[in-house]
Amino acid sequence: MAARLIAIGCLLLHLLPPHFAGTGKTPAIVIFGDSSVDSGNNNFINTPAKCNYEPYGRDFEGGKPTGRFSNGRLATDFISQAFSLLPAVPAYLDPAYTIKDFAVAVCFASAATGYDNATSDVMVQNSVIPLWKELEFFKEYAAKLKSYQGEERANETIREALYIISMGANDFLENYYALPGRGRSSEFTAGEYESFLVGIAEGFVREVYGVGARKIDVTGLPPMGCLPLERAVENFRRPFAGGRCNEEYNGVAREFNGKLEKMVGKLSLELPEIRLVYGNIYDIFDDVIKNPTSYGFEVAEVGCCSNGLVEMGYMCRSPLTCWDANQYVFWDALHPTQKMNLLLASHTINTTLSSFM
Ligand SMILES: *[C@@H]1O[C@H](CO)[C@@H](O)[C@H](O)[C@H]1NC(C)=O
Ligand SMILES: *[C@@H]1O[C@H](CO)[C@@H](O)[C@H](O)[C@H]1NC(C)=O
Ligand SMILES: *[C@@H]1O[C@H](CO)[C@@H](O)[C@H](O)[C@H]1NC(C)=O
Repeated sequence: MAARLIAIGCLLLHLLPPHFAGTGKTPAIVIFGDSSVDSGNNNFINTPAKCNYEPYGRDFEGGKPTGRFSNGRLATDFISQAFSLLPAVPAYLDPAYTIKDFAVAVCFASAATGYDNATSDVMVQNSVIPLWKELEFFKEYAAKLKSYQGEERANETIREALYIISMGANDFLENYYALPGRGRSSEFTAGEYESFLVGIAEGFVREVYGVGARKIDVTGLPPMGCLPLERAVENFRRPFAGGRCNEEYNGVAREFNGKLEKMVGKLSLELPEIRLVYGNIYDIFDDVIKNPTSYGFEVAEVGCCSNGLVEMGYMCRSPLTCWDANQYVFWDALHPTQKMNLLLASHTINTTLSSFM
């Protein structure tokens, strides 16, 4: 375990550009989103969408299952570290942390949520934190920060902090496509739903800007048709097609990303002083899946956990779970391994976030 942590540490130093020694210009990191970035908020609410048990977190410091949907740290943890903030972003609902920690790094994300209010209700009514509630928590945080740092300094923290927004896959995979002929799929075509979600994303950016945020990254979708679960379903539907990705879902992800990027361009022109960027993770993700060995991976089609096909959560407790997650792109049927998260962080820093240094 220690050897694994050290190996990832070296990889981090190697993958991050040398000028990332922390210039102090970014005093805090603030995270909104779903399980791609949830560092444990769902541990503290009544929901089945949790993973605060083994083997999750087995490559995290101390082998601790923190509620992160991975074997170790998330991309946002590595980004926080690269900005010389905390090495792991604490979850806002975790009582082990106080405003002293959150003043540097805070996560409002909740696994299984989405841009769409209806997505957080899919599994169980009101079971995870909807986006509007993440915003309310952020406003509450801003008020606490003012009492902790004083208004002037808190204003500066909020203005200079880095904000990362990462969600949307659940809106399509757990909501739109999971309820065929019902709910959103009976109201919208896929294209209309993309635009509907981007409209919500736009409103959310305006709200966060209204509280005082300026440096904001809106991350796009990965090739979600290549997530092991979607591949397994596709393979089941077309057993002789050779384990293909669901190209319809990938097309929707690309189209959604295009609309998200356009919205980012529009708000960048409209809102004074905003430094809004679109985080493109699709292309690198796609390349890793197509050429895993050139990135040091051996397996991209299935996850490390259990059979790697559809398993998540408790099913990862299987004795079939792989030994070395560093060989895998995916940890469970939907979520990347720590090693893939590090690569995504490094790529995002090199391509978009370095402008915030
Ligand atoms: C990011 O940049 C660093 C330094 O230039 C480089 O070593 C690293 O490989 C890059 N990361 C990615 C994912 O391209
Ligand atoms: C989501 O729900 C909240 C709380 O009920 C509401 O204020 C908001 O307008 C809803 N958002 C959308 C896009 O329907
Ligand atoms: C802090 O920001 C708010 C609005 O964002 C502003 O009204 C207030 O005057 C600022 N306070 C200080 C001390 O700069």
